[in-house]
Amino acid sequence: MFSKYLPQAEKIMSDMTLNEKIGQLNQITITPYTDKMDELRELIKNGGVGSIILASSATAGNDPQGHVNIELYKDLQKIAVEQSRKGIPMIYGRDVIHGHRTVYPIPLASAASFNERLVEKCYKNIAAEALNDSIRWTFSPMLDLCHDPRWGRIAEGPGEDPLLGSRMATACVKGFQGDDLKADTSIVACAKHYLGYGASESGRDYFRTEISDGTLYNYIIPAFRAAVDAGVATVMSSFNDINGTPVTGGKKYLTDILRGKLNFDGFVVSDWGAVEQLEHAGFAEDRRDCAKKAIHAGLDLNMCDKCYIENLGDLVKSCEVKAAEIDTAVSRILCVKLAMGLFENPYCKRTEYDESAHLADAKLLADESMVLLKNNGVLPLKKDTDILLAGPFAEDRRTLLGTWTLDGDAEKTQNFKEALSERANGRFEYSAALESGANSDVIVLALGESYTKTGENHSVSDISLEDSQIELIKKARAKGRRVVGVFFCGRPLALENVEEYFDAILYAWHSGSKTAASAADILFGDVVPSGKTPVTFPRKPTHIPIYYNVTSSGRPCNSYYGEGPFYSYLDGDSSPLYPFGYGLSYTAFEYGKSECDCAEISLEELKNGKKVQLSVTVSNVGDFDGKETVQLYIKDVVASVIRPLRELKDYKKIFLKKGESKRIDFCLGYGDLGFYGEDGEYLLEKGKFEVFIGGNCLCGDPVELVVK
Ligand code: NOJ
Repeated sequence: MFSKYLPQAEKIMSDMTLNEKIGQLNQITITPYTDKMDELRELIKNGGVGSIILASSATAGNDPQGHVNIELYKDLQKIAVEQSRKGIPMIYGRDVIHGHRTVYPIPLASAASFNERLVEKCYKNIAAEALNDSIRWTFSPMLDLCHDPRWGRIAEGPGEDPLLGSRMATACVKGFQGDDLKADTSIVACAKHYLGYGASESGRDYFRTEISDGTLYNYIIPAFRAAVDAGVATVMSSFNDINGTPVTGGKKYLTDILRGKLNFDGFVVSDWGAVEQLEHAGFAEDRRDCAKKAIHAGLDLNMCDKCYIENLGDLVKSCEVKAAEIDTAVSRILCVKLAMGLFENPYCKRTEYDESAHLADAKLLADESMVLLKNNGVLPLKKDTDILLAGPFAEDRRTLLGTWTLDGDAEKTQNFKEALSERANGRFEYSAALESGANSDVIVLALGESYTKTGENHSVSDISLEDSQIELIKKARAKGRRVVGVFFCGRPLALENVEEYFDAILYAWHSGSKTAASAADILFGDVVPSGKTPVTFPRKPTHIPIYYNVTSSGRPCNSYYGEGPFYSYLDGDSSPLYPFGYGLSYTAFEYGKSECDCAEISLEELKNGKKVQLSVTVSNVGDFDGKETVQLYIKDVVASVIRPLRELKDYKKIFLKKGESKRIDFCLGYGDLGFYGEDGEYLLEKGKFEVFIGGNCLCGDPVELVVK
């Protein structure tokens, strides 16, 4: 895809000096040059900068960042294009993660929408806004699947499932890049953090990982494979090591798997400082050795730590690095620059966009991302209900936007108190700590966690609700009114200890600019909730890790699916509080019996492309029109390697009017039933499969299928 530009790239490279080539592999941040801009201009003029990251610190997700300075970037780009000998434009990148000026739900929340078409549309909007600020490259999507919600970065990824992660990956890449990178509406995407970063042990950020190749290929790689298949132009190497090899210095990961098995032909950028960190990790002797190991591994662009520009020249002279290795990296970067039309149009591609249309899409996605976890009938509220609102997040604006909001404006963001009071026709009172409050019908509590508890370098050791919030919940319950909890969060919290005090729980996440409006609309029934959990909600923090696609043991003890007779833990129920794929609606969906068009199919037929057809009739038997995510899971009953108890293989988000029924069709083929072996090769073994169709991963009554 990008290698088709190789002849052009080689032509450009044919008279480049070694230093100019190494300059292309150097990405800088402007901050260190703030007081010495002449030095920066000189560096660019000498061809020493291939790319600029528009961030002023290494952990931009939670540090305040200045807005982009379009005039300055134009000025610097002019030097690269008009004054450097080769005139190669620089590529500007910024962390435009889940929104730019308009902020969409954090990626974990948008995965809960199970609506990739809407996600794609929103990410197209994000591209338009980024382009308007001269940003041509974003470090998104983040595709790290995660089993440990203590990790602050779980907020940035698609949750725990490879299929959902893959669909979100495709949607984000297509949204950002469109069909043609040269188009006026496209920006370059970056699949990160490749690879295994989400498995950081105990949820500590930047920590070590131990990952078997089977887990890598079946669980962690699929979302990256989907991003590559969707044409992602860049990939970011992660900070972590896998089994002792840092990914940024790991040829197995950056070359053998990424290029050899996934056929990626864009370029790889390191994470910020990840090259110099090879020394800190004890994998390289010094910065020179860091550069050597990273280029040998297949790392093309060096983000911010200058190891390449300082050392690669010398390493080539001493023959420790081959000139051809440099050429390969440079050509990959030039191919992407050519593919995106940077040479023809090196400055910004400013596009007009309609802010209100973007906000409307942000609202739709927030509507679909929120998950109704509990409802004993109190919701939806009647408009004339007397409401008493309390809780620490009723007036917070910034938290609703979530981590990695560099350009969204918290001041312009409506808070939950405003949104709720605006819609309420009954008496509305607000008392943050429930100090006052007349006889309301319902107490609504705005709970959760601050955005500062999520994101990079912001992990927590305990995913319980804070004590002060637990006290508030008990206080609300003691008042004898019905209690509704609205949770603004960046991760699943462990809510078993408070769940009983609520009549209803709406998990609103940090859902961006329109969080408050969506949550309020859902409470009043103007929007019927349709989000489903993209990650398992544990009962207690000590149940981590707990995830749905777990394998069984010989002594069934997992308890996720009610297996017995052995207990995971003696001290309480060890099943999830809310399983993967779970979420309530105001209406009710009834599933008919699942049907399969055949009980047996041969391996040969599957290999030749034949598919098994399955169907189920879903009926809306409640009182509202609503959306349901119909999910299909398989279980490979006996295999040479124990397979998960359930694996999501397809889903369809459907809309049914009240009283309406629809037959929903699925098909399963060769690519759905097999798995990857330790060598990364795909295999499908003969034997029995069970297929489950329903509204979450616990759905029962499987259909049997035999592969002969
Ligand atoms: C470090 C983070 O890990 C990464 O996600 C981000 O894109 C870079 N910094 C650049 O800000």
